Amino acid sequence: MYRTHTCGELSPDQIKQEIKLSGWVQKSRDLGGMTFIDLRDRFGITQLVFNMEVNAVLCEDARKLNREDVISIEGEVAERSNKNPRIPTGEIEIIVKSIQLLSKSKLPPFTIEDQTDGGDDLRMKYRYLDIRRNPVKNNLLLRHKMSAASREYLNSQGFVEIETPCLIKSTPEGARDFVVPSRMHPGEFYALPQSPQTFKQLLMIAGMDKYYQLVRCFRDEDLRADRQPEFTQIDCEMSFVTMEDILRTFEGLTSHLFSQVLGKTDISFERISYADAMKYYGTDKPDTRFDMRFVDLNQIVKDKGFKVFDQAELVVGINAKGCGAYSRKELDQLTDFVRRPQVGASGLVHVKCNEDGSYKSSVDKFYDQKELKLWAETLDADAGDLLLILAGETGKIRFALSELRLELADRLGLKDKSVYKPLWVTQFPLLEWDENSMRFHAKHHPFTSPMEEDIPLLKSDPSKVRANAYDLVINGVEIGGGSIRIHNKELQKQLFKVLGFTDDEAQKQFGFLMNAFEYGAPPHGGIAFGFDRWCALFGGSDSIRDFIAFPKNNAGKDVMIESPSVIAKEQLDELGLVLK
Ligand code: AMO
Repeated sequence: MYRTHTCGELSPDQIKQEIKLSGWVQKSRDLGGMTFIDLRDRFGITQLVFNMEVNAVLCEDARKLNREDVISIEGEVAERSNKNPRIPTGEIEIIVKSIQLLSKSKLPPFTIEDQTDGGDDLRMKYRYLDIRRNPVKNNLLLRHKMSAASREYLNSQGFVEIETPCLIKSTPEGARDFVVPSRMHPGEFYALPQSPQTFKQLLMIAGMDKYYQLVRCFRDEDLRADRQPEFTQIDCEMSFVTMEDILRTFEGLTSHLFSQVLGKTDISFERISYADAMKYYGTDKPDTRFDMRFVDLNQIVKDKGFKVFDQAELVVGINAKGCGAYSRKELDQLTDFVRRPQVGASGLVHVKCNEDGSYKSSVDKFYDQKELKLWAETLDADAGDLLLILAGETGKIRFALSELRLELADRLGLKDKSVYKPLWVTQFPLLEWDENSMRFHAKHHPFTSPMEEDIPLLKSDPSKVRANAYDLVINGVEIGGGSIRIHNKELQKQLFKVLGFTDDEAQKQFGFLMNAFEYGAPPHGGIAFGFDRWCALFGGSDSIRDFIAFPKNNAGKDVMIESPSVIAKEQLDELGLVLK
């Protein structure tokens, strides 16, 4: 009744055919005796023509239409005299014979075009209008392609998609839980899952062998461009596997997505240990599209009278290739950058490698040309390069230099969006010492297995124990993470002890899982990918919000439906809740 075709499919093949189209009025133009309307639906835009001389009444009706009115038309496909090669339907137009107005639109609060005049907040409030625009619509289409291709691959590998509950008990992923009060059990709460971690392990004990789920996860944490309070994971678990089996399986998934979604078939995977990632890049998610590796200078800079270096735990530098001619102003900008509170260094030492073979540094007072030459050689620098050096406490300085490395990559245009460098980061520490609670926390989660050869260290030096855990990092974005799990009850008990749980506490919080381990748990492991992040990466954006149909804003609010919001007193009473 409404259409024979979509607005994106007519071509010269249908010339002279009678067709029906329905859609939104994108814009209309009156050119004397002729009126043109661009009719839009999800599939594209088709030009409609009305001729005053042929049908004045119809032409008048067309002129009364406003942007975003919904109409249905009947007409004949004709060849355009003025062809538009930029759109797929650009060779044809429709000579309209009748119009039906299906729904009037108010004047939209911003222009619904690729380049819009609407600010962020306004577009979030009217997200359904924003989705009509190509950039947002295309992101959602990309997301669909990604989910379809993920399922296609996992199904082909014998994985089974199984849903797990949303109203659960707290999961131990380290963020705060969102909780839901129970009406039937006043004073008791469900927690929304931070991930289906415990359920997927139970599914392995249940013998399901290979599980996956595109699943919503909820974490009450501070928001950033790559974090939303609710987000989606491609969550997977496999039985009778080693880390190698898992990495190979998910290299398969990654390659499949690259080829199906981006048409890229030349993707290769590198690996690096956590320790090396920290040493060479100062972060556990290095962007390896460009080099600029850290070089430890401790051995060659000490004892020359420069206190900052002498007292530092770590003196470490990078070679900014080709930046030797940076001006005073540019160097000051870099110094200001590292001194920002969120970067945290106190100063920046630089050495310019001049074209004439000499060196000019900010520490000339303490180091002569011979010494600077040795630094340059150690950092593999040539004439025209710039050495940038930070000194201080290892953790802080690695972080600051890693931020500086990324800043330089931006300035030098090294973050090529068409290049993708997947990297497995492995051998993470199993535990992290927390100064506040003065105890160890699981870096990943408490079911992660230690590396076999490190198990004895659980007793002697827990901080040194490495985990059978791995992250997939692509271009500096943590796309996914997982681990081989503990399937041995005794080892799990031992780990809970190291984490400071008494037997009672462990039983109370994870008893259901520990009991399940009593009934024959297969060796198993898995991984979860941040699906929104993966979509954003493939879509060339840093913000995952652009790839979620109805996201929360930076304050965690949905300004369209005005959530979170207060609830009625009766509802509070019914739930047994009293607000302070
Ligand atoms: P993890 O906590 O590392 O592991 O999460 C897996 C991936 O989920 C993505 N992610 C997020 N994306 C958007 N917004 C957030 N707030 C957010 N938090 C995490 C990241 C991350 O790599 N159960 C384990 C997986 C396992 O061990 O199998 C887990 O959830 O891309």
